[in-house]
Amino acid sequence: DWTTGNVIEEQVEAIREQVGDRRAICGLSGGVDSAVAAALVQKAIGSQLTCVYVDHGLMRKGETEQVEKDFVAATGVQLKVVDASERFLAALKGVSDPEEKRKIIGREFIRVFEQAQAEIIADEGPAVEFLVQGTLYPDVVESGGGTGTANIKSHHNVGGLPEDLEFQLIEPLRQLFKDEVRRVGQELGLPDEIVQRQPFPGPGLGIRIVGEVTKERLDLLREADAIARAELTAAGLDRDIWQCPVVLLADVRSVGVQGDGRTYGHPVVLRPVSSEDAMTADWSRLPYDVLAKISTRITNEVRDVNRVVLDVTSKPPGTIEWE
Ligand code: XMP
Repeated sequence: DWTTGNVIEEQVEAIREQVGDRRAICGLSGGVDSAVAAALVQKAIGSQLTCVYVDHGLMRKGETEQVEKDFVAATGVQLKVVDASERFLAALKGVSDPEEKRKIIGREFIRVFEQAQAEIIADEGPAVEFLVQGTLYPDVVESGGGTGTANIKSHHNVGGLPEDLEFQLIEPLRQLFKDEVRRVGQELGLPDEIVQRQPFPGPGLGIRIVGEVTKERLDLLREADAIARAELTAAGLDRDIWQCPVVLLADVRSVGVQGDGRTYGHPVVLRPVSSEDAMTADWSRLPYDVLAKISTRITNEVRDVNRVVLDVTSKPPGTIEWE
C-alpha cells in the first residue's frame, strides 16, 4: 500500500535500473515538481545527475537563492546555474504585448537551456542520455496518457522542450498527485519554502508587468511582491489562498500625496485567488486588516508605487494572471 517511503524506494530502484552508469540532466524551475523529481533522481544516481537552472531574471525576491543555496544544501545535487538575465532583458526590450513576451521568454529559455545541456554533454564522462521531467499524474491524463515523449502544455511551461528531443525521459512523479509530490519532497528533506510553494508562472514576473519589462520595474515589483507574500504568510493565509499575483501597472500613473509633496507613481494590483485547479477561481475575501497592512507597507516602502488596488474578478471572466 501507498506510503511516501515506498514510492521513494520503488522509484530509486527503477531509476537506477533505467540509467545504469550513464548520465541524466534535469532543468530546475524553482517549482515543486522539478525540485522533487530532481531530488528523487539525485537520491538514486547521485553525481550522474546534473541539474540546470536558467536564471531569467524574472523570479521573485529570494527564489533564485533558494534554488542555488537551499535546494543544493538539502540534496547535494550538482547544479549548473546560468545567469541569463541580461539576455532576457535585451530580448524583451520594447515589448509590451503579453503573447509576444511569453513567446520571447519561452524561446530564450530553450536556447539557454540547450546551450547548457550541450556544455554538460561535452564534459568528460559517460553518455548523457536521460532528461528528468516533473510530470505529474494529472498532466499524464490531460495529455492522453502517452508515454516516453515530452508532453508539456507549451504555453504553460517555460521549460517546454524542443521537438527534436534525443533523450529518454525519466518521470518519477508520473503516478502522483500534487499533494503526494509535496509529501515525497518533505520526506526527501526539501525545505518547506520549496515543497509548499504556490503556483508561479514559468514566464515569471515578465507577465506581471503590464507594459515593457525593464530592470527597474522588475526590482520594484519584486519589492512589492515580497511585502505582500510576507504579510500573507505572517497572517497564516498561505494555505487558504491558491496564489496571489502582484501586478505592476507600469504604463499607468496616478496622482498621490506623500508628506508635503505630490507624487505621480504607479499602481500595483493584488490578485489573491482561491481555486482547486486554476481552471476556475474566485477572488479571495482577505481580511481588511491584512489588506491594509500590505497597502501601507507597499506605498511606504516601495518607491514609485503610490497606490494599491484589489482585483475582485473571478475566473472566468478574468484569468488569474493579468497577461
Ligand atoms: P491563468 O492566468 O491562465 O493561470 O488563469 C492559471 C494558472 O497557471 C499559471 N500560469 C502559468 N504557469 N507557465 C506556467 O508554468 C505559464 O506560462 C503560465 N501562465 C499562467 C498561473 O499562475 C495560474 O496558476
